[in-house]
Amino acid sequence: MKNIPYGKQFIDNKDKKSVINSLSHDLITTGPYVEKFEKKIKKFLKCNYSYVCNSGTAAIHLAMLSIGLKKNDIILMPAVNFIASYNMAKSMQLKIYLVDVDEQTGQVTPGKIQECINYNKLKKIKALIVMYNGGYPENIEKIYKIKKKYNFFIIEDACHALGAEYKYKNKYYKVGSCKHADISTFSLHPLKTITSGEGGIITTNNHSIAKKITLFRSHGILRNKKMHWKYDIIENGYNYRLSDINCALGFSQLSKINFFLKKRKKIYEKYLNELKTFNLNLIIPKYSSDIKSSFHLFIINILFHKLKKNKDHFMKYLLQKKVIAQQHYIPIYKFSIYKKKISSLIGSKKYYNNSISLPIYVNLSKKKQDKIIKIIKNYFN
Ligand SMILES: Cc1ncc(COP(=O)(O)O)c(C=O)c1O
Repeated sequence: MKNIPYGKQFIDNKDKKSVINSLSHDLITTGPYVEKFEKKIKKFLKCNYSYVCNSGTAAIHLAMLSIGLKKNDIILMPAVNFIASYNMAKSMQLKIYLVDVDEQTGQVTPGKIQECINYNKLKKIKALIVMYNGGYPENIEKIYKIKKKYNFFIIEDACHALGAEYKYKNKYYKVGSCKHADISTFSLHPLKTITSGEGGIITTNNHSIAKKITLFRSHGILRNKKMHWKYDIIENGYNYRLSDINCALGFSQLSKINFFLKKRKKIYEKYLNELKTFNLNLIIPKYSSDIKSSFHLFIINILFHKLKKNKDHFMKYLLQKKVIAQQHYIPIYKFSIYKKKISSLIGSKKYYNNSISLPIYVNLSKKKQDKIIKIIKNYFN
């Protein structure tokens, strides 16, 4: 039997046709598929502005640039996240404060954000990055209240959460609608809800932020509308454009998103039913009943210290059985590039010691999932 990866794209003939079709257009970048894809995203998420770019990392960088962050501005971000937002903030010489995460979900909480603000005696906070680890958008209503209190921007690193929804005052909103965040970012990497090969999405409802995004995405160029050969550079921008070839794939994938979400939910529920009461040392994070997840990851927490084992032992055991589990993520302060001393971040430490992501993807068969569940149960026996 082949290895079972923790994630995998789903590509069908319609996707292939769409890509081939894009190749016969006159413009294979900055062409019709970019516009079509952006319009479709806007309609799906119900936001005012949506743009594509060539990675989730680029989307996060564009978000930071377009809200006007400058050297020494204070930004808060989760201590546990993929490195993209930290790297981008560092490259802009921002003052970064890592917020501790919940030991089960791996997400920042309102309490932990407030703790970070109080402990560091922070005054002029410019922005907060939140990340919906695994695709479960937790605590949006309460975090929005903190935003209002301190008047900072919220950037959603929603790279796991395309298709997820949250409840705010009894109404459901899609993550990316930007009703309770200033700007949202998504990744279109093959392991995410939908893919364009590589790619990213950035959404906002703010007109001036939107204008900045398009400027920074393409070298800071402002073209003269009547004389196409004349242009000015009004920002130090980048080439973060996504080609029409990628957009053709993304466009076709977005048509299938509800099918993808349904399949992922079914896999999530099977894991949940089989593992939730299986063993006291295996904990499945409890998410709020008010959210509709994108089910990007299935995260379990194992109390290894109680089993007198450690995570490496478990990961090696899974590997031997051809199951490729994953770590989402190694806390940022553990990397060599992180030079500051950390004081507490107890939740992040516990989360890192205990959490593992099990395989979940559209085409994961029942047979393979049964096998994974059996392998996990055998570990405890
Ligand atoms: C939470 C999170 N943030 C940011 C990124 C960066 O996205 P990309 O790989 O498309 O640059 C990823 C992708 O791995 C991610 O999972």
